[in-house]
Amino acid sequence: MSEWTIGVIGGSGLYAVDGLENVQEIAVESPFGEPSAPLVMGEMAGHRFVFLPRHGKGHRLTPTEVNARANIDALKRAGCTDIVAISAIGSLQEELPPGQFVIVDQFIDRTRQRASTFFTSGMVAHVSMADPVCPRLSDMVAGASEEAGANVAKGGTYLAMEGPQFSSRAESHLYRSWGADVIGMTAMPEAKLAREAELPYALVGMVTDYDCWREHEAPVEVEAVIAQMNANATKARAMLQALAASLPDKRDASPIDTCLDYALITSPEARD
Ligand code: ADE
Repeated sequence: MSEWTIGVIGGSGLYAVDGLENVQEIAVESPFGEPSAPLVMGEMAGHRFVFLPRHGKGHRLTPTEVNARANIDALKRAGCTDIVAISAIGSLQEELPPGQFVIVDQFIDRTRQRASTFFTSGMVAHVSMADPVCPRLSDMVAGASEEAGANVAKGGTYLAMEGPQFSSRAESHLYRSWGADVIGMTAMPEAKLAREAELPYALVGMVTDYDCWREHEAPVEVEAVIAQMNANATKARAMLQALAASLPDKRDASPIDTCLDYALITSPEARD
């Protein structure tokens, strides 16, 4: 087996991975509560993969209900070295049409009702989120997405909203004016928590709709989102197989593996 263990967080429409061998389902307990589902662990092309459907089996969790702390903690405990997150997104830019894959590299976090740090109860840490995704893993998933036949935009700013309602037109225009390229409801605080857990994180966003900012266009509707989501999910599964085929056996250390060494941390012992 190689040195990689890739945690895959599957978004709306992606509830399983193709091509996994020696599959085992295990329930991992977390002090942060219940992960969205038991972890599905298996092997592909000599690498370990651990799959977790973000919204649970049968999509039963709203974006607000997803326990991102338990999910990231469970993946860390399962031995994941890196996380590939996959999410349905709305597009805030003309040149990112439905079907487009966007390898997100920045975030604006507008979520409001979610536990967003592991550091509470006396332990305070401030990790850097200046560069919130892992460039190495992002490059790899970009290449694998192209191999799977997707049109890929390398880089893009993701605005995370609370949901579950979609945005008003005024909000959609506001987010465009802030420079956001795509919008979704789930990648925050997930990406922040991955960084706190010292897990390199890459986000493959798959555009399902143009949200509601376009003049003379019908606003985003659930049926259209679901149809596009299913087409995108087929490509996402092919992307994961291409990723497995392209990973080298050796995993060079990433600076993110030890990022807490450089974070501002105070512990109760340090204070006295
Ligand atoms: N996920 C998919 N499309 C979306 C949109 N328009 N807004 C928020 N999240 C989404």
